[in-house]
Amino acid sequence: MNNVGVLGIGTYVPEKVFTNEDFEKILDTSDEWITEMTGIKERRFAEDMETSDLAYEAAKEAIENSGVSKEDIDMIIVATSTGDQKFPTVATMLQHRLGLRNIPSMDQLAACTGFIYGVVTGAQFIQTGTYRHVLVVGADKLSKITDFSDRSTAVLFGDGAGAVVLGEVEEGFGMKSFDLGSNGQGGSYLYGDEEDGGNIRMNGREVFKFAVRQMGESSVIVTEKAGLDKDDIDRLVPHQANIRIMNAARERMEMPPEKMSSTIDKYGNTSAASIPLSIHHDVKNGKIKSGDNLILVGFGGGLTWGSICLTW
Ligand code: ACO
Repeated sequence: MNNVGVLGIGTYVPEKVFTNEDFEKILDTSDEWITEMTGIKERRFAEDMETSDLAYEAAKEAIENSGVSKEDIDMIIVATSTGDQKFPTVATMLQHRLGLRNIPSMDQLAACTGFIYGVVTGAQFIQTGTYRHVLVVGADKLSKITDFSDRSTAVLFGDGAGAVVLGEVEEGFGMKSFDLGSNGQGGSYLYGDEEDGGNIRMNGREVFKFAVRQMGESSVIVTEKAGLDKDDIDRLVPHQANIRIMNAARERMEMPPEKMSSTIDKYGNTSAASIPLSIHHDVKNGKIKSGDNLILVGFGGGLTWGSICLTW
């Protein structure tokens, strides 16, 4: 089987910054409550940009950074819960807009775990030698399914996109193990309400309990499957949903705070984009370097979860 790794990464967040103080003006909330309960200080809103626009910017950068020519991309997978329309998919829009060959493309929906599912799916085609390069994008415009009159959810979400080009890497690098799962019994804890334009409804307490347990467990599983010890892990990149959930998962891994990626203060919960946004942030600031062992771990509506252990 081929070793699969990330050849290039790209990200995009829209310019419009919406702070906790901005929420104080429209909701009965406070910067203090939001910061203490979630770790979020501000988030970005896409306004007139669509999910495909965010995805396009991130994908373009990922391809440039990968050094892979457009002609050599063999497949596109877009993880999103907020495609521009039901169909055509964001993936087909990217195929056309990026000027790629008439390659297979699809959107994949696993809510906030979408990026993990997308990378694992794309990796299968490369491991088996079917394709050489797969573009995987996590992009969401959650602001279009946010109920801005509901203070318990509105303050949590933001818009953004992240993309990677997957391809074969040298021995010792790339994906070492993964763990995916779902439990539909918890579907009612987090869903898009079709009777209200698809707006997000959430039982915060239940999602919180599930996320802490599942992110912790899944991180331990992939570490063991990779034949590594917790001390071998250089960086934990959790889905950025709530700093308290992220810290609880980290504690379960018995990892120190300085080993955890966190961009939640800047971007809030950007769903399928949050993990690539955090990886790219840490690559740029030197906290993720070639040869580092990473754990990427996410959870989301479904309920779904997943994690990947890889050497960067
Ligand atoms: N500002 C001020 N007060 C608020 C706000 C707000 N924005 N939101 C809720 N409150 C109030 C509630 O009304 C409640 O008041 P009450 O006690 O008078 O009824 C009080 O704060 C406590 O509310 P809870 O919902 O019980 O608080 P909890 O400790 O559960 O924290 C939170 C809420 C932050 C949403 C938490 O449940 C959480 O983080 N849950 C998980 C959220 C999450 O990760 N979602 C991800 C969803 S999408 C995805 O990534 C898959």
